[in-house]
Amino acid sequence: MIRPFRSLVTASDPLAALCLVVAIIAVEGCAPTRGPVRENVVEIEEIDVVPATEVEEKLATAGEQARKEMDAEKAVADKVIEAATDAAGPAAVVAETEKVLLGEPSLTAGVPGEGAITPEQIDAWLADPKNHRMLEPELPLGLSQAAGQVRGLAENPLTRAKIELGRQLYFDTRLSADSTVSCASCHDPAFGYTAHTKTGVGIRGQLGGRNSPVSFNRILSGPQFWDGRADSLEAQAVGPIANPIEMGFTHEGVVKRLSEIPVYARQFEKIFGELTIDRVGQAIAAFERVIVTAPSPYDYHEQLRPFVKLDPDDIADDADLAARFAAAKAAAEAHPMSESATRGRELFFGKANCSACHVGANLADEKFHNLGVGMAAAEPDPGRFAVTKDEQDRGAFKTPTVRNVALTAPYMHDGSQATLAEVVAWYDKGGHANSQLSDKIKPLNLTEQERADLVEFLKACTGETPRVEIARLPIAADL
Ligand code: HEC
Ligand code: HEC
Repeated sequence: MIRPFRSLVTASDPLAALCLVVAIIAVEGCAPTRGPVRENVVEIEEIDVVPATEVEEKLATAGEQARKEMDAEKAVADKVIEAATDAAGPAAVVAETEKVLLGEPSLTAGVPGEGAITPEQIDAWLADPKNHRMLEPELPLGLSQAAGQVRGLAENPLTRAKIELGRQLYFDTRLSADSTVSCASCHDPAFGYTAHTKTGVGIRGQLGGRNSPVSFNRILSGPQFWDGRADSLEAQAVGPIANPIEMGFTHEGVVKRLSEIPVYARQFEKIFGELTIDRVGQAIAAFERVIVTAPSPYDYHEQLRPFVKLDPDDIADDADLAARFAAAKAAAEAHPMSESATRGRELFFGKANCSACHVGANLADEKFHNLGVGMAAAEPDPGRFAVTKDEQDRGAFKTPTVRNVALTAPYMHDGSQATLAEVVAWYDKGGHANSQLSDKIKPLNLTEQERADLVEFLKACTGETPRVEIARLPIAADL
């Protein structure tokens, strides 16, 4: 079992701490305001040539910096817990907290038992105080670099009971008017939490206007939808229920229906003290926040990089560091990136400039850009403009994550591109000219090999999502 990078390297070991700092610099280096990663990692090479005293000084500063980082992180965590305890309201959240690594399968395994969930089973589940402990989630390797970007936990604390309620709601077609469509119809775990249709297909086979984006790694994401019109995951979650071409129901209708299903009524009562549409949104959002991508070959590759940059003699001199290096190396070898993907990584963060927007742990800057997709249509989708009414935002859409993107064809907000090769070709030709085209989109003049390398890199960003119980849902009201 490979632990996240942060726990592999501790502040008590200056050399390792430096390594941590370098890793942090490397990640920050992907930010659009700074240069590509490679430029920022030179610091470590400088160390080889500076006098010993200066090295020590640097190491001390690095250690100090790493300690400060950790203190700051702890302060944030404490604040979150405090705020979350306040926000918990009448609910059954117990004071004790539990640290949990996201992706841990017990979080999404469902209420114990077989078949439809019965009132007796749910009562036993709700009676267990463990299920109401506030969870302190840790992110898996890769995403863990973004611990500071975690959203929504203070307002909507995670508990096992709430996540389980959200899981049931997510897969339950009874949230749609004619009980045919669930969230999973368009964000299906079997298809990388999307659907392989060009646009969403709702009740009575109605077609939506946009492609279904992924519903994982939402714990690192703020505004939702391609145009960012929902401020939070909670606000987003209740949208589709009342959307006439998605689930086609009303908020009053769904609240009434859920209140008539005893297993749901009991859960809302115990967890929230009430059954309202906002509570439905909170439960679904809690479930979505624990669906994260496990480390991909890319993440294991990144974990190894800082070690590779260190002087082998320095590693050999430090038994602890040597052990960590060996562990990172073994992990990278067990999840290899091909040579082509490794070249693709260099292009992605370098010459092809993908990291101008696909940055940070989730490889998405959470901002809106116009690539010209769909701009040749008779009536182009206004995109972000519909929210801000700013002409600059016309045709701009939120940068999607490229994690697990190999599983989620077709691509772009309108589902107009069928393959990753097509997407890369789009960037290579500089998108589609229009008056709001992003200044970051320019012809790349890539060779055929380079285009193939980029596709291989995108494929190397694939990590597993947690095992999720899909079938076990509350037993029908009249049984
Ligand atoms: C009929 C298909 C369909 C159904 C059903 C559906 N969605 Fe979506 N979902 C979409 C589409 C299409 C979008 C993008 C819409 C837009 O941006 O305007 C979307 C957007 C989202 C997003 C935003 C992701 C991002 O990157 O901004 C989340 C999260 C999400 N849906 C979760 C859910 C949940 C939870 C449910 C159930 C309550 C649900 N969806 C039901 C098709 C669907
Ligand atoms: C200017 C910011 C920007 C840059 C630079 C950029 N992207 Fe994107 N990327 C986006 C946005 C925004 C979208 C969605 C656009 C839309 O649907 O209109 C997107 C979509 C994608 C998608 C489709 C994802 C999906 O789920 O539909 C892939 C794959 C992708 N980009 C890969 C890349 C690669 C590879 C590069 C470098 C060659 C790159 N991007 C450069 C912003 C950017």
